[in-house]
Amino acid sequence: MTVHTRRRLLKGAATAGAAGIGLSAMGRLAGWAAQKPEPVVLKTASIEARLTEAGATRNVLTWGEAGMPPVIRMRKGEPFAARLINGIDDPTTIHWHGIRVPNKMDGVPFLVQPYVYQGDHFDYGFTPPDAGTFWYHPHCNTLTQMGHGLTGVVLVENPKDPQFDFEVVINLRDWRLGDDGQFIEQFRPRDAARTGTYGTVRTANWLDQPQYDAPAGGLVRLRAAITDVTRIYAFRVDGAEAAVIALDGNPVPQRFAPDALQLGPGQRLDLAIRMPDEEGAIVSLRDVRGTKPKVLATLRAVGKSLKRDPRDLAPLEANPVAEVDIARAQHIPLALSATAENVPGDGICGSLGYSFWAINKVPWPGDTPDPTAPLAELKLGRSYVIDMENLTPHAHPIHLHGMSFKVLSSSTRQVQPQVTDTYLIQSNEKVQLGFVADNPGDWLLHCHIIEHQKTGMTSYFRVV
Ligand code: C2O
Ligand code: CU
Repeated sequence: MTVHTRRRLLKGAATAGAAGIGLSAMGRLAGWAAQKPEPVVLKTASIEARLTEAGATRNVLTWGEAGMPPVIRMRKGEPFAARLINGIDDPTTIHWHGIRVPNKMDGVPFLVQPYVYQGDHFDYGFTPPDAGTFWYHPHCNTLTQMGHGLTGVVLVENPKDPQFDFEVVINLRDWRLGDDGQFIEQFRPRDAARTGTYGTVRTANWLDQPQYDAPAGGLVRLRAAITDVTRIYAFRVDGAEAAVIALDGNPVPQRFAPDALQLGPGQRLDLAIRMPDEEGAIVSLRDVRGTKPKVLATLRAVGKSLKRDPRDLAPLEANPVAEVDIARAQHIPLALSATAENVPGDGICGSLGYSFWAINKVPWPGDTPDPTAPLAELKLGRSYVIDMENLTPHAHPIHLHGMSFKVLSSSTRQVQPQVTDTYLIQSNEKVQLGFVADNPGDWLLHCHIIEHQKTGMTSYFRVV
């Protein structure tokens, strides 16, 4: 059933992207049987890609030979392996965003692994403990490398996942292109000190508003990852009943309709959509944030109605994340602020040469060899609560590597006890995030608006 539905995706508008999905899925099927999985080869390449009407864009980066980076499928509790080969003239690494990997596999240069230079390779291998929607991206010179295309989706499947009739995977991102379709300056200091510099061309699976055929009256699992370096989205679904079933790879405690649900760079959204019964009916996934709302992608109902009932969908299985012991937890104050000083950087690994932001008053761009001390040293196995406060006038999607945390409370809104790896904190919000420090190593914590990250809003925990 699933293979069949993935095939049907090939008929959609997103031929190049969707073909990658089908092929990588088959490759993984072969890998599951073996104890030592065949590594997925991820070779960085500079290609030309058609992203606008203006013609092919040069210097687009991907893994593979053409088109969008492949959607990588893994299975919960089963070993996965990938070989990164660097085919571009810029050192790189891969970070598996949201997947609780051993520290050595986390992809952060200097902190946990060496750069991978042109012509060199690095072997990643780990067993994903959690099922859900995740993603992968470099952790070096990220504004350029991610900005030019190196962002891909990871699906960790669980044999116990509920049965859907169709699955759509959507990689959401922008590109900073000029009218001629070529890249323009990725970084504007003035914007970096505010919301970050927005792209000019918006895509879903590297396409403008792709449309996918889905069975009428069927249940669709739509998995979207915001892999953009800057943009915060507010999601709505029109034309069908839709419910959020998971956020950032983890099931939501209670399903709800995505009514302008705000998610930031790095975050993922899993929706259960009940397609309309009438053939030809259109369902649209929209971003309603800001002054220029946009239809991101559409689904078209095809065939005779399957007459499915969303209430038949079994809940997603919770991931095995340790329960924080709130009563005994040690509290870690964490203040996000704008900084007045401007410490020039050293240009390594894509330093932007400015510091506009700080965590607990220390600006650090991350993935650089300067001797910044960890934000805190945590005891392996202990419970912690981060008391995070946003003293800036902007929202920040704050991401923790290596461990998942639970959202405990917010000073400004009603929150569900969501387990996640990224929290979008609004201006003047205070939030409590609880977790068990159960993964040893050095783990970055940073804003996923890459210009914020690279101009100071980065720190790390040491778990020993
Ligand atoms: Cu998406 Cu430091 O990561
Ligand atoms: Cu930020």
